Amino acid sequence: MIEEGIVNNKRVIDPSEKSPVKRTQEISLRPRTLNDYIGQNEIKKNLLIAIAAAKKRKEPLEHILVHGPAGLGKTTLSHIISNEMGVNIKMTSGPALEKQGDLASILTNLKEFDVLFIDEIHRLRPAIEEVLYTAMEDFGIDIIIGQGPSARSVRLSIPRFTLIGATTKMSMLSSPLRDRFGNVFKLNFYSDEDILAIVKRTSRILNFEIDEDAAAKIAKSSRQTPRIANRLLKRIRDFAEVNNQKKITLNNAKEGLASLGIDELGLDQQDRDLLKILIEKFNGGPVGISAIAAAASEEQATIEEVYEPFLIKLGFVERTQRGRTARKPAYQHLGLEYNPVDFSIK
Ligand code: ADE
Repeated sequence: MIEEGIVNNKRVIDPSEKSPVKRTQEISLRPRTLNDYIGQNEIKKNLLIAIAAAKKRKEPLEHILVHGPAGLGKTTLSHIISNEMGVNIKMTSGPALEKQGDLASILTNLKEFDVLFIDEIHRLRPAIEEVLYTAMEDFGIDIIIGQGPSARSVRLSIPRFTLIGATTKMSMLSSPLRDRFGNVFKLNFYSDEDILAIVKRTSRILNFEIDEDAAAKIAKSSRQTPRIANRLLKRIRDFAEVNNQKKITLNNAKEGLASLGIDELGLDQQDRDLLKILIEKFNGGPVGISAIAAAASEEQATIEEVYEPFLIKLGFVERTQRGRTARKPAYQHLGLEYNPVDFSIK
């Protein structure tokens, strides 16, 4: 059986999902300059200054840490930064770097001022993190020459580069690593107006007209996340296209969202199931994340990094010392009676 909102076992609105095919499609939709980038105004302002100053000093940009929920544009921003600096970008990720040598070979092959982007930087192995410290601080790596008693360490210079580290889990980053970044930017969920502007921009690039009310409907259902907005827009365009329409109407948007199981707040069946587990199986909590994960047959990290951020943002779920709790708006959204158990001593 195909569940609503799930196609080929993938969530249509999973902001963390970046398949290779989708990635190429998304690249052409991605803004290439800070000027084209919609939203995150504070970050843009700071970046414009940092980039202009680095260029003026003829120095590489200081290392940058970007954190925030999946799908908000960490990778896009990194491409823009390298583009604005006029340098190459080399992409890798924490889990992809298995040996110290993997990182050493990437670092030695960089050119002056190049950007090295490490996604999921919180998942770097400690031994590799060690290599990164000297690379970031002194633009050098220590290599061991020889074996046994005659082994000695030699410092090898590497090109001055800019590290851009991206993470969805800032709390899992070690403090020595965090401290080595000159700039730390937190990406926030986008405003409805920004998402609306992104939907309109994307439909212009896709060369497919969209009615204002349809664009607003898609924007409202996109969990304030550009990656989801663009994905929904493409799926809904399919509905217009199969009807031989030249533009996307509100009806297409409604029909598309309904068939994807996405409600007016942008929640899909899996979000609602998760809330129901919390409310019905665990009386609204507090309950530990591992128990929720077991009940939902999901990985704990997926719940924490993919589902929870937006549910927390909506005020539906709260992370407390004693575990997760469902809040009143979550009950209301699901049409359930709010009747929390009162543990206080009277
Ligand atoms: N596409 C995805 N994210 C975007 C953004 N922030 N601005 C413009 N287009 C986008």
